[in-house]
Amino acid sequence: MTVPKLALSDNTGEALAKTRADVVVIGTLAGEDGPVLAPGAAAVDAAFDGRLAGLLATLGASGKAEEVVKIPTLGKLPAAVVLAVGLGKEGDTVTAEQVRRAAGAAGRALAGTDRAFVTLSELDLQAAVEGTILGSYVFTAYRSEKGDAPVAKADFASPATGTAREHKATLKAAGSIAEAVITARDLINTPPNDLYPASFADRAKKLAEDNGLEFEVLDEKALKRKGFGGILGVGGGSSRPPRLLRLAYKPAKAGKKVALVGKGITFDSGGISLKPAANMDHMTSDMSGAAGVLASVVLAAKLKYPLEVVAHIPLAENLPSGTSYRPGDVLTMYGGKTVEVLNTDAEGRLVLVDAMVRAAEENPDYLIETSTLTGAQVVALGNRTAGVMGSDDFRDRVAAIMQASGENGWPMPLPEELRADLDSRLADLANVTGHRWGGMLAAGIFLREFVADGLDWVHIDIAGPSFNTGSPWGYTGKGGTGVPVRTIAAVLADIAANG
Ligand code: BES
Ligand code: MN
Ligand code: ZN
Repeated sequence: MTVPKLALSDNTGEALAKTRADVVVIGTLAGEDGPVLAPGAAAVDAAFDGRLAGLLATLGASGKAEEVVKIPTLGKLPAAVVLAVGLGKEGDTVTAEQVRRAAGAAGRALAGTDRAFVTLSELDLQAAVEGTILGSYVFTAYRSEKGDAPVAKADFASPATGTAREHKATLKAAGSIAEAVITARDLINTPPNDLYPASFADRAKKLAEDNGLEFEVLDEKALKRKGFGGILGVGGGSSRPPRLLRLAYKPAKAGKKVALVGKGITFDSGGISLKPAANMDHMTSDMSGAAGVLASVVLAAKLKYPLEVVAHIPLAENLPSGTSYRPGDVLTMYGGKTVEVLNTDAEGRLVLVDAMVRAAEENPDYLIETSTLTGAQVVALGNRTAGVMGSDDFRDRVAAIMQASGENGWPMPLPEELRADLDSRLADLANVTGHRWGGMLAAGIFLREFVADGLDWVHIDIAGPSFNTGSPWGYTGKGGTGVPVRTIAAVLADIAANG
């Protein structure tokens, strides 16, 4: 999907009287005695002679989060409809995430509208833009009937504080961030018969060319020559061979160097350790980490962060066949460590460490790795909270940024005692422990074995948050969510600002 055309607008009676929008979006808050108009609704309310809150109450509105009520304007405004969306409880402040979710609910309800005028931006411009765009996202590439098109043009009320220049910059950044999330969602939502290692590589190459990034792809022959035993082992069962991508953004004035690594299993059947049939189709999303870091390195170039950002993306399809790797095999990983495979369904960690070791060769200041790594993440934290592991300080920094972004990550430990459970009978390490306990953490400990001492690194397990198998909510539709693209964007911005 493409991003709607974005613009800024005044939010005065005069501006409203001239708007070419079909729908004006206002916010409501849930007050003690019914809906209360949010900042940004004043000019619309004036056109309704100050009776908008009463009118909404009459219609049964409460202002609760994501409630959508539409009112015909009957000529009071050139726009035909006022769409009132709930922000939730009235408190001292309205958070960015409240605005983003309300804008997302409005964005969904705007399907079929050509042009909208959104006043939620008076509360938070960036959140309103992100929410509106992400909420309106639909993936219809595989439908004959496309249904109502997402809103094509969105005008945002300029906030009262800040300069016009700042507002323009925020609009551009928010639009680019939302576009990056959409890039990730589109990749995740593309089915595995069309998205496999080579076709993912083609799409990455196109993005790299369009955005001036260095691009390199290692095919199965190059992977063999260079000793990427993890990627080759996992990818060996598929007729569609594995790849390893490297995309680099190197601005003239680069500060810190950040390496990104994302798990790119284009379909995870489990391999010889086959998964149960129920919901196996969800494993189309097992390349969400890869999609997220690809979108993020492109975004870094678009927003010209003063950082060097290099993405490493291992791609493989995990299938059972006569050429598959087996439980009992020993793989020699890139860099020389050996791993005994006890379960071919613990494949993510095997492709990841090949890419992480390669990423570390370039001496980055930070290593950010993200993956749909364990079902245990979903058991521990549910569908909407990622597990954040790694070196203590950087882990806490990333987790805090992830919470603030609304993507929700929580810091998790790497308990020392689990390391011994990865001891192997014959190799340096086994790929699983012999038990289920702390599965998310054991995977993190496995990764840590391949990270040099002293490197600031983080592992973000997004098994649950990357793919919405439930109903749409806020700015998140069904399918690929694009988590953790907004977190990576915010971490890069934080590193650019603070080192
Ligand atoms: N891709 C899965 C993890 C996953 C599960 C992602 C559910 C999204 C939703 C991963 O490759 C996997 O199969 N992990 C195993 C590890 C186990 C064998 C130690 C798991 O979690 O069961
Ligand atoms: Mn697996
Ligand atoms: Zn997997």
